[in-house]
Amino acid sequence: MHVKRHSSTMATPILKGGCELLLIVSLIASTFANSDTYIIHMDQSAMPKAFSDHHNWYLATISSISDTAESTFSKTSKHIYTYTSSVHGFSASLTKSELDALKKSPGYIYSTRDRQLKVHTTHTSEFLGLSSSSGAWPAANYGEDMIIGLVDTGIWPESESFGDEGMTEVPSRWKGKCEPGTKFPSSLCNKKLIGARYYNKGLLASDPKIKISMNSTRDTDGHGTHTASTAAGNYVKGASYFGYANGTARGMAPRARIAMYKAIWEYEVNESDVLAAIDQAIQDGVDILSLSLTVATEDDLFLEDDSIAVASFAAMEKGVFVVASAGNTGPNYYTLVNGAPWLLTIGAGTIDREFEGALTLGDGNHFSFTTVYPGNYSLSQKPLVFMDGCESVEELKRVRDKIIVCKDNLSFSDQIENAASARVSGAVFINNYTSLSEYDTRSSFPAVYIGLQDGQMVIDYIRKSKDPRGTVEFRKTVIGTKPAPRVDGYSSRGPFASCRNVLKPDLLAPGTLVLASWSPISSVAEVRSRSLFSKFNLLSGTSMASPHVAGVAALIKKAHPDWSPAAIRSALMTTADSLDNTLTPIKDASNDDLPATPIDIGSGHINPTKSLDPGLIYDATAEDYVKLLCAMNYTKKQIQIITGSSHNCENRSLDLNYPSFIAYFDSDVSESKKKVVHKFQRTLTNVGEGISSYTAKLTGMEGIKVTVEPQKLAFKKKHEKLSYTLTLEGPKSMKEDLVHGSLSWVHDGGKCVVRSPIVATSLTP
Ligand SMILES: *[C@@H]1O[C@H](CO)[C@@H](O)[C@H](O)[C@H]1NC(C)=O
Ligand SMILES: *[C@@H]1O[C@H](CO)[C@@H](O)[C@H](O)[C@H]1NC(C)=O
Ligand SMILES: *[C@@H]1O[C@H](CO)[C@@H](O)[C@H](O)[C@H]1NC(C)=O
Ligand SMILES: *[C@@H]1O[C@H](CO)[C@@H](O)[C@H](O)[C@H]1NC(C)=O
Ligand SMILES: *[C@@H]1O[C@H](CO)[C@@H](O)[C@H](O)[C@H]1NC(C)=O
Ligand SMILES: *[C@@H]1O[C@H](CO)[C@@H](O)[C@H](O)[C@H]1NC(C)=O
Ligand SMILES: *[C@@H]1O[C@H](CO)[C@@H](O)[C@H](O)[C@H]1NC(C)=O
Ligand SMILES: *[C@@H]1O[C@H](CO)[C@@H](O)[C@H](O)[C@H]1NC(C)=O
Repeated sequence: MHVKRHSSTMATPILKGGCELLLIVSLIASTFANSDTYIIHMDQSAMPKAFSDHHNWYLATISSISDTAESTFSKTSKHIYTYTSSVHGFSASLTKSELDALKKSPGYIYSTRDRQLKVHTTHTSEFLGLSSSSGAWPAANYGEDMIIGLVDTGIWPESESFGDEGMTEVPSRWKGKCEPGTKFPSSLCNKKLIGARYYNKGLLASDPKIKISMNSTRDTDGHGTHTASTAAGNYVKGASYFGYANGTARGMAPRARIAMYKAIWEYEVNESDVLAAIDQAIQDGVDILSLSLTVATEDDLFLEDDSIAVASFAAMEKGVFVVASAGNTGPNYYTLVNGAPWLLTIGAGTIDREFEGALTLGDGNHFSFTTVYPGNYSLSQKPLVFMDGCESVEELKRVRDKIIVCKDNLSFSDQIENAASARVSGAVFINNYTSLSEYDTRSSFPAVYIGLQDGQMVIDYIRKSKDPRGTVEFRKTVIGTKPAPRVDGYSSRGPFASCRNVLKPDLLAPGTLVLASWSPISSVAEVRSRSLFSKFNLLSGTSMASPHVAGVAALIKKAHPDWSPAAIRSALMTTADSLDNTLTPIKDASNDDLPATPIDIGSGHINPTKSLDPGLIYDATAEDYVKLLCAMNYTKKQIQIITGSSHNCENRSLDLNYPSFIAYFDSDVSESKKKVVHKFQRTLTNVGEGISSYTAKLTGMEGIKVTVEPQKLAFKKKHEKLSYTLTLEGPKSMKEDLVHGSLSWVHDGGKCVVRSPIVATSLTP
């Protein structure tokens, strides 16, 4: 059970439209012609010598089990994809009896039914401290030559964000290509957009009648164009959303390259296609993979049933850094997805930018309000009229040339609907919401939302004045608002139920109202029933947060080409900011702006400049993750499905060398007198100067005794490794849900701080 913590405040609903693209799998598979699509895991070492490659072995296996009755199906039409890099195996359309026969075939390990996945910046670079004069951009040469792969809705290749001015020749190590398709000749790729591929065979296998209107990597939705330009978009001057967020747009790594793998088809997406996309991205040679989609069910999955986890294990082994969004189903505990310990899980935060309008009364009184109303308006010195609850459309129609003022505590949405259908020229809604939903602020007519106190001033003015008038203006962008960042309500929260011993999420990055490029054929808003289009769109979601991190990871990898995915992760986490721009702990927008915990924000908010020079790193190898799976009591078979190879579990350890700590305590109060001790052993690698020493600094945790041994680490040379032990001693059961603190290794010369959050919790899924 996921206890809702914040019953009094509304979580910000995610915008309608493309931003709900965090994918959720439903386990209901369709039954077409009594066949279903299955993803089949095979033991590669069991391939008979007679076969030249795995693909031919799989085809032969399918043909050997084919139902003779169904002679209309050839062996190739049953086969959908062969996977070599994400999972070992293939997907195929099989009847029940064929599947049963397959299960007896040599090399068969495991199969799952294909699943349906439900489909879930200008200023952000400055907010993150990226500038051309100093810091991460010049230090990492803007991510030059790094290749960021995205699995998404495709890309709009003509967007200026994907222009290749200033880009060097495509590196010869790149094996990807630009597959031609509908309205997408391969000539549309360039030195910025170096790969474009599309996957819909799985979708078509489950429904051959489905119409694919754009059978190519071209993005008809906008989401993929948005995420790709956020990660690595080139510079575009004069970008804005109808005047909001105006400025120069660019991605986090403006000189990195983009490879788009389209597997989302107008909200339709199948696991078999997503696996094929990741499979190819690994083979093509991407450096970074950004995934704003997930396989998630109502149930907590074992990791071998989470195909994003399985495919990203293979990617990690090949040195590909995988970043994935945490989900948009916050703010309750245990809502997080994509939490496998070998990938980086990203939550979404706000930035220090707000969009406003202004209402000025005839008496000079002035109110500002939050809005992203995109349309035209002419509301200068218009008569104001108070219409109480705005219950009657007929009455509203009679005053439609004026600015109507509505106040009622009953049905806010009905008032908006009434005002819209009466086609009033403008409306002021007085309401008791402390924070409006983003959906409301994207109104389809000029709408002003103000609180009860300001609203009373407007009503008093109308009552007192002989000729009450008001002026309404929109399209104001305010920079430098405080506090920022905050974790936004929709951002999914940890722990990750399928792997509770690793603290998730890892990091917070900008996710709310992010401006980035968009598909110009996909409507961004509706004004008076007319669809509006734009080359840029403002979107909110953890989908927007993960490409920010993908771009920064490209900067780190450019600066440190030999670092493992775990080293890059450690650099991002240990340098993250735990304080906001008021220099107090980052707050939770869904919890009355009280301080957030590491279950909400992980190590904190990404700090690109610091992440390039972390001093020390927590490294980990594929073997370390295997030891973790062994200690979680995963079977040999489960581990083989995840890792693609067999392991004996000689060594087991729940204590992964991770840059954060989480310990579980009981909640049963009768046990509160007993003591319990949790020990963590960690190893730090010196990636800074040769000789350097660090001193441990702990922040206290109520009711828990925290100690570290040794308290000093003196490194004599670069790449040297030193270990320490962190001990938490507390009552067997805790009174609180969660207490947290931190361990920082502070460089004795003050050069860097290597910080890790520590959580002690009694939360259960
Ligand atoms: C889409 O294009 C591919 C490659 O050109 C082709 O094999 C496939 O049949 C096409 N699918 C549809 C539905 O048009
Ligand atoms: C955005 O537009 C406003 C009004 O036109 C202007 O004052 C401001 O300087 C612009 N901001 C940027 C970053 O260009
Ligand atoms: C593939 O996805 C579509 C739409 O998302 C869904 O209707 C279909 O059931 C899925 N196919 C399978 C085999 O699950
Ligand atoms: C707003 O005005 C501009 C310029 O006249 C026009 O191009 C645009 O279509 C108008 N927008 C709407 C929503 O009517
Ligand atoms: C609406 O406001 C009135 C007066 O303030 C109050 O008596 C009533 O309970 C409110 N109704 C709701 C549904 O909040
Ligand atoms: C406004 O909302 C708050 C919290 O929901 C409530 O306590 C307060 O009574 C409301 N005020 C009015 C005037 O309805
Ligand atoms: C794994 O199994 C052992 C032996 O049954 C048990 O002691 C341990 O608690 C289990 N570990 C986990 C993480 O469930
Ligand atoms: C298990 O640990 C021992 C001792 O550290 C080591 O020698 C051995 O290679 C490890 N085995 C595996 C499979 O990692």
